[in-house]
Amino acid sequence: MTNTEQKVYGNLINGEWVVSQGSQPIEVRSPVDGSLVGRLSSMSQQELDQAAAAAKGARKAWAACPVYQKAQYMYRAADLLEQRAEEIAECLVMEIAKDRKSAVSEVKRSADLLRYTADVGKSLHGETISGDSFPGGSRGKMSFVTRVPVGTVLAISPFNYPVNLAISKIGPALMGGNTVILKPATQGAVSALKMVEAMQDAGLPAGVLNTVTGLGSVIGDSIVTHKDVDFINFTGSTEVGQHISALTAMTPVIMELGGKDAAIVLEDADLDFAADNIVDGAYSYSGQRCTAVKRILVLEQVADALVEKLKVRIERLKTGDPREAGVTVTPLVSTKSADFVENLMKDALAKGAVLVTGGTRQGNLLAPTLLDHVTTGMDVAWVEPFGPVLPIIRVSSQQEAVEIANRSEYGLQSSVFTNNLNKAYSIAAQLEVGTVQINNKPERGPDNFPFLGVKSSGMGTQGVRYSIEAMTRPKAVTINLTEE
Ligand code: NAP
Ligand code: G3P
Repeated sequence: MTNTEQKVYGNLINGEWVVSQGSQPIEVRSPVDGSLVGRLSSMSQQELDQAAAAAKGARKAWAACPVYQKAQYMYRAADLLEQRAEEIAECLVMEIAKDRKSAVSEVKRSADLLRYTADVGKSLHGETISGDSFPGGSRGKMSFVTRVPVGTVLAISPFNYPVNLAISKIGPALMGGNTVILKPATQGAVSALKMVEAMQDAGLPAGVLNTVTGLGSVIGDSIVTHKDVDFINFTGSTEVGQHISALTAMTPVIMELGGKDAAIVLEDADLDFAADNIVDGAYSYSGQRCTAVKRILVLEQVADALVEKLKVRIERLKTGDPREAGVTVTPLVSTKSADFVENLMKDALAKGAVLVTGGTRQGNLLAPTLLDHVTTGMDVAWVEPFGPVLPIIRVSSQQEAVEIANRSEYGLQSSVFTNNLNKAYSIAAQLEVGTVQINNKPERGPDNFPFLGVKSSGMGTQGVRYSIEAMTRPKAVTINLTEE
């Protein structure tokens, strides 16, 4: 790989950094100031085949590598990532406009995740089943069930966590004995390639980890349907996830997709605490997180008080350049995104929503915006903005809150703010989501927790042990003893 801007970033194929010889390179420009972050290879079919062949060729030796040694690679890679955290974070700041503190934290959190994944991978074991626990069986029959790799895992990551959401796939896939092809989001690929460089520098054998770059709309269909891909671990939009699913019906997947996480605020909630959490949850990284708070469902009797507390906090948020200390709301990743979010907001205002604060735009920087009196007839009540616009829907009962929460096509997370644990638990039991947060904003971490979405938010479970299990399969060997 080269890190000079003028040259093209290559891909890791069979242990070598290879620059594509074919098409025009893709320019990655910063959402912060339009500067060039890097140029990427736009890979040809032949080059994609080479990456897949490298991953296939390395399978046998990597599967045979003792788990303890696999873990050693992960520990070394984690140390290198930590040592390079500042450098990778610099890149994240410019490439995806993530504020500096969050960028450093993303890299360090990923190093911790790799270490934890190595620990879990070492402690996973199969089982022995005795035949005599089933009618007609005998003690002379024993089934030894171990877990074996599925083969090659294609990891596809989104722009918003180029390091963490790649590591959360690569680590468990490798500890499960698989080889990996990483297809990073184009915006975010330079940071992702720097992470891969750290993993490779840890000494991974050639072909165990490979990368492919190119626009998803150009190379995506070809790589997801490649005959040498055995598992797809995808994080991104519901639209692209569904497209991939439709193309790859017989390939097992984990899909982590979009969300419309609700914060339900009951009449007895600590409103200051709820407001702190909601503002942090909705606006950090400009709302470009799958787990951002994307709608508030608040009981009418406390709605005015909550709105006032939210407004004060939102107006204190620092917006602008992610290189400046303390900035939370930064320019959105693309003009297309900024247009989308602005249109959603304008549509709601035209249909009668009340602008509490925000509503302005400078380039791709949208002011953190709060919309009150949003109704279920407005798109902003249902659509994932992936930007700093938060709608408030006032409800008359907790049943109505649950009903509107569940009417969403998405089912990632939900928050419930209340001081009544009985009510919280009852609501949690009714919500159709992967995770309910009681008195906290939605969030994925800590990264050892299972993370999943239901309905249009995903399929399968991410989370260290769950991920390793998903990317391995049971293999049974039955011993048949004869009685002496
Ligand atoms: P995206 O547009 O769906 O892209 C995700 C990845 O898919 C990128 O690497 C993209 O490559 C690739 N891709 C695009 N078209 C493809 C195709 N036909 N075949 C294969 N790959 C293809 O999503 P995004 O804008 O990067 O991320 C934002 C979305 O991700 C939001 O909806 C958010 O909620 C969701 N997300 C979910 C989670 C979760 O865990 N549930 C976490 C983070 C984000 P290119 O960049 O080259 O197009
Ligand atoms: O949107 C990415 C997802 O992984 C969220 O992580 O830590 O921001 O909740 P977090």
